[in-house]
Amino acid sequence: MEKTFSIVKPDGVKKNLIGEVIGRFEKQGLSVTAIKMTHLTKKQAEGFYAVHKARPFFDSLTTFMSEGPIVAMVISGDKAIEKVRKTMGATNFKEAAPGTIRADFASDIEHNIVHGSDSPESAAFEISYFFSALEQHC
Ligand code: RTP
Ligand code: MG
Repeated sequence: MEKTFSIVKPDGVKKNLIGEVIGRFEKQGLSVTAIKMTHLTKKQAEGFYAVHKARPFFDSLTTFMSEGPIVAMVISGDKAIEKVRKTMGATNFKEAAPGTIRADFASDIEHNIVHGSDSPESAAFEISYFFSALEQHC
């Protein structure tokens, strides 16, 4: 059993894709073991994406991530990190495999609907950024 962290980003919430994203993870045999809707401040978005601080898209990304409500989730199951990343598709929707969330719904490289942890280390940091132990259920 592995845990990963995912977000339905502000564009996904606006497009009414919360159920679609969760449904696609559940179809992979994965389970939602923590969930909350929240609206990040710019500072909170900067803390979450601190790993990208030096990137040219950092300001734009953190403005986007704080412009509306998001749905944050812990997703659990066998190979959860890899399965979530595969279900999401490549960062750039133009390179995302057909049938992935980003290929189907992203509108540009930034507005790509969904986030997923890329390693066990990032999953641990990201889960703890949003959820206490008491908010997680397995
Ligand atoms: P995420 O962290 O959100 O799951 O996405 P990812 O691993 O596929 O991509 P990452 O390199 O971590 O980038 C984080 C998010 O920043 C935005 N981005 N914009 N303008 C650009 O060139 C650019 N590159 C990345 C996207 O929203 C990306 O998901
Ligand atoms: Mg990433």
